[in-house]
Amino acid sequence: MQIRPRRRRVSSGIRELSRETYLDVSNLVYPLFLMDGANIKEEIHSLPGNYRMSLENIIKEIDSCMKLGLKAFILFPSVDEKHKNKTATYSYSSTNFYIRAIKEIKKRFPECVLISDVAMDPYSSDGHDGLVHNDQIVNDDTLPILSKMALAQAEAGIDLIGPSDMMDGRIGYLRDELDNSGFENTGIMAYTAKYASAFYGPFRDALNSAPKKGDKKTYQMDFRNTREALLEAELDYNEGADFLMVKPALHYMDVIKSLKDSFNIPIAAYHVSGECAMLSAACKNGWLDFNKAMPETLYSLRRAGADIILTYFAKDYAKMASKL
Ligand code: PBG
Repeated sequence: MQIRPRRRRVSSGIRELSRETYLDVSNLVYPLFLMDGANIKEEIHSLPGNYRMSLENIIKEIDSCMKLGLKAFILFPSVDEKHKNKTATYSYSSTNFYIRAIKEIKKRFPECVLISDVAMDPYSSDGHDGLVHNDQIVNDDTLPILSKMALAQAEAGIDLIGPSDMMDGRIGYLRDELDNSGFENTGIMAYTAKYASAFYGPFRDALNSAPKKGDKKTYQMDFRNTREALLEAELDYNEGADFLMVKPALHYMDVIKSLKDSFNIPIAAYHVSGECAMLSAACKNGWLDFNKAMPETLYSLRRAGADIILTYFAKDYAKMASKL
């Protein structure tokens, strides 16, 4: 036998020399859920270890993450029903706690990377990402609303806009509007291939943002399609997206790989709430070992080609990495 692959596994030093993939805390983005009010820290039951928090607790959380080297965050608002309406006007109102929080966070932590969510659903009385008219989600009339939301976030100092709405043409529309208002350095992390997935359940529970009627299949992608993701990516890329995202992540590794092979900008994978919840539940039951299964999961996404991973396990990984 001339070739023995096991020779490269004989010691941990040789295994490390042969290692093909690395995962660093700087690859991770930690999702945080913001609520209006004070002294709020409620655990999301289907996402153990993740909380809905009011601003001062979010600030404490960011501070403790920064100390672990974790400095990228994506912020989602949990909005009271009284602020929701058909046109999501609260999303760009100067009184919106989310916009105020962006300002405060960037003032306290100028070196953090803060990513927003741009979609109507947290603010819409219909619970849809776009405007609902005669039971249809209308595309073009949604764009100006998304743009008002994005501009309010840009003015507040957000680093990256995160359009998660899946309307056609929104990246180019938002890019133009941002540029015309002097925000040419505000980047866009596009939710490029966002599938109509069953794995968003815990997130919608956390934000109480499920559609009041119907589903999201007329705008989010069919989970049976991959080539269509390449079309979405081509559009977002040509419309000026700085980062392309695939969402969910674990169940869509083929899509991550094909975007990585075709586009020379960073590819992000959103390891979504349901995917994290599955692992947490198995670990809670003692069926899997979290400290082993969690890094294996995140590494698998890096292997598939994800440059960036958005995951509810970001802080757990950062804690683990700081002890190595
Ligand atoms: C809202 C949005 C969703 C997620 C991120 N932004 C839910 C949805 O589209 O219904 C899901 C994230 C997760 O499940 O972790 N536009």
